[in-house]
Amino acid sequence: MSQPGDYDAVRKDIVAQLKKPDYDDGSAGPVFVRLAWHSAGTYDAKSDTGGSNGAGMRYEAEGGDPANAGLQVARAFLEPVKERHPWITYSDLWTLAGAVAVKEMGGPDVKWLPGRTDFVDDSKVPPRGRLPDAAQGADHLRHIFYRMGFNDQEIVALSGAHNLGRGHKDRSGFDGPWVNNPTRFSNQYFRLLLNLDWKPRTLSNGVKQFNYSDPDAAEDEKEEPLMMLPTDVSLLSDNSFLPWVKKYAEDKELFFQHFADVFAKLLELGIRRDDKGSVVNTDNVRGGYVS
Ligand code: HEM
Repeated sequence: MSQPGDYDAVRKDIVAQLKKPDYDDGSAGPVFVRLAWHSAGTYDAKSDTGGSNGAGMRYEAEGGDPANAGLQVARAFLEPVKERHPWITYSDLWTLAGAVAVKEMGGPDVKWLPGRTDFVDDSKVPPRGRLPDAAQGADHLRHIFYRMGFNDQEIVALSGAHNLGRGHKDRSGFDGPWVNNPTRFSNQYFRLLLNLDWKPRTLSNGVKQFNYSDPDAAEDEKEEPLMMLPTDVSLLSDNSFLPWVKKYAEDKELFFQHFADVFAKLLELGIRRDDKGSVVNTDNVRGGYVS
């Protein structure tokens, strides 16, 4: 048990949870990033509801949303960290795990601040249906991300998180990784999105995605085909998104800077702080620290 407020000790224990030889591509990092994003991506700026405050995914109303399928795995991986540091709230732990995972997989430092509180019941859990639907296109992305307060450049930068991890048939129905090394944060997603010949494919479960297989690879050396979601491919046919795809494909440093900024912004949605950085909106929630 660490001292309350010792976030460096928590960071170390999150790092210790990342290596998972028997899971996916050997790392819990990608699913931690997705957990952090889905905890925050319910934010609605107009009503000032949703967002990472509250950790509503602990309740069926939010945790059982089909959009969150598979994230119980990430929460279970983080439970030993919560047990060792019971003073941290789940909402802080899940967002911190996303930031730590990005950094550990070779990505930028993402600014993260503590102070989120956890809901005491499910009465303030945001309604389902606020997270994006990967089967749709550019208009839908704008509808979802403008609602949170993001612009077109930020939508493209955020999409670059698909450098990490994979689609799972038993979670979203999509299948496969976006890049060859899905546990290494880079701008490869943008380079592959622009430069490969993505072919539409309907999977046996009826899900439509895009695939690429290297036609020159010898039969016995064929790697798992790479995948893009319809929303990923929609970035290419939009006059406002495409220039950012090109910029991030060319300039890894620019992408890293912009991703660090936009991911930090995502994790802060709906959280109001005083000039000392303390969170002031804690209505109907309580801190996880009970003295
Ligand atoms: C995985 C959709 C944006 C991070 C996925 C999956 C889907 C999806 C369908 C596969 C889930 C599974 O089967 O396990 C979308 C759509 C987005 C979006 C439609 C709209 C732009 C984001 C953002 C982030 C993110 C903003 C983070 C900043 C991830 C990560 C994974 C993932 C890291 C891999 C998870 C794993 O390997 O377990 N996303 N996503 N996504 N997404 Fe997104």
